[in-house]
Amino acid sequence: RAAGAVEGTVRGAIEPRRTTRLAVVGAGSVGATMAYAALMRGAARSVALYDINAAKVEAEALDIGHGIQFMPMADVTGSDDIAVCSGADVVVVTAGAKQRPDQSRLDLAEATVGLVRKIMPQLVEVAPNAVYVMVTNPVDIVTYAALKVSGLPPHQLFGSGTVLDSSRLRYLLAQHTGVAVQNIHAYIAGEHGDSEIPLWSSASIGSVPLTEWPGMPGPDGPVGRLGAADRERIAEEVVNSAYRIIAGKGATNYAVALAGSRIIEAVLNDERRILPVSSLLDDYKGISDVCLSVPSVVGSTGVGARLDIAMSREEHEGLRRSADAVRAVARRFGL
Ligand code: LAC
Repeated sequence: RAAGAVEGTVRGAIEPRRTTRLAVVGAGSVGATMAYAALMRGAARSVALYDINAAKVEAEALDIGHGIQFMPMADVTGSDDIAVCSGADVVVVTAGAKQRPDQSRLDLAEATVGLVRKIMPQLVEVAPNAVYVMVTNPVDIVTYAALKVSGLPPHQLFGSGTVLDSSRLRYLLAQHTGVAVQNIHAYIAGEHGDSEIPLWSSASIGSVPLTEWPGMPGPDGPVGRLGAADRERIAEEVVNSAYRIIAGKGATNYAVALAGSRIIEAVLNDERRILPVSSLLDDYKGISDVCLSVPSVVGSTGVGARLDIAMSREEHEGLRRSADAVRAVARRFGL
């Protein structure tokens, strides 16, 4: 008997831990970075990348795979065969058109609604029980179209929405106030796009309402206060972030990939995390039949309760305007 051979089977064999499977559709800069970010954060035990461009998707998977030693234990594959998404627990859809500097996200609807209508039935066939996270822009329209064409229940398919925009808002507020970003609680709601709105009235820094933030003691008095002009400037900077980055490097990929990984973890670990994801609203503050981002509970079944956050009249009106803007484009595509 070889020395050290394991004696028979382990008594009361241990149920092997179920492998968590993530599939990422689209191996462009967002999809490839999303797969990388999820692996680096140990979000999933098995990651599959799918793209119609075989050479690209195999190269991305290989390049990530070569670093697997330096990540939490996992495996990664890439293929132009959609069967690679089979049995996924979470499917993230990033495939779509690249936003040019002169384009808004809503301008991409023409190119991406058709793609989603084509690919969703194929994905649901190989991964019928997955939770679907749409990232492709315009994400609110794409989420609505994907729900319609897939026939999945509204909790099982949602969009990354303004998780990224809220992260940008918190980043800028942390820079302005000097407080750690983890202690700044503020959401962007509505369209992931030009009509989005910051929910200032419910934001807080530590347990201090943001609108009452006194600033931090400085040599010549409080620093980092947040007057109306500061809030206006920061809100503008959030809305324009993507345009600025696209103008500089052609696309955004890191923060959206990290925001996506946060959502993936909330689903795969059943975290019940509150995230402003884009989902089908049904009489949310009087808004229905449109996908928009509001703070919602995200867990293993997808999107759950949409939190009835107290909003100022201006914020509520802004949310309704955002709904109208998204719905107007959706109607143009027969949605
Ligand atoms: C952005 C893209 C993901 O806001 O819409 O960076």
